Amino acid sequence: MISLLVLNGPNLNLLGQRQPEVYGTTTLAQIEALCVSSAQGLGAKATCMQSNHEGVMIDTIHEARGTHDGIVLNAGAYTHTSIALMDAISSAEVPMVEVHLSNIHAREEFRHTSHISRVAIGQICGFGPQGYVMAIDAMLEHLKARA
Ligand code: DQA
Repeated sequence: MISLLVLNGPNLNLLGQRQPEVYGTTTLAQIEALCVSSAQGLGAKATCMQSNHEGVMIDTIHEARGTHDGIVLNAGAYTHTSIALMDAISSAEVPMVEVHLSNIHAREEFRHTSHISRVAIGQICGFGPQGYVMAIDAMLEHLKARA
């Protein structure tokens, strides 16, 4: 069975309480449950993980090599700053779809740059929690096309 890692980065543990006008009222636990059930509905398995620490995220990406077939990654603000996360994705050689709840291109200029986009299959942003479902679907289609 195809195994996916859904990795959320800094401050996303506060979803539901954090700037609901930007990120909505859905909690991370609800998003993770949505990811698990939508992966299951498509015949795959999703394992969810969140960290506020760049190094922990890097370790988790390294561990995904040989463990998971694909990564759905919302790197939060590290998206815009972390070359180390970008390098971790390249090194792990596990395909990755980038997801953001908000439309980062319609927000402050510093959010328009994503270092991880360079190593992503593609980016989905602006669709709220549904974006994770879209990312899982896109990843599974990508993996099937490659098989
Ligand atoms: C985010 C967008 C980032 O710019 C921000 O730093 C986040 C959340 C999103 O899901 O919309 O923490 O990744």
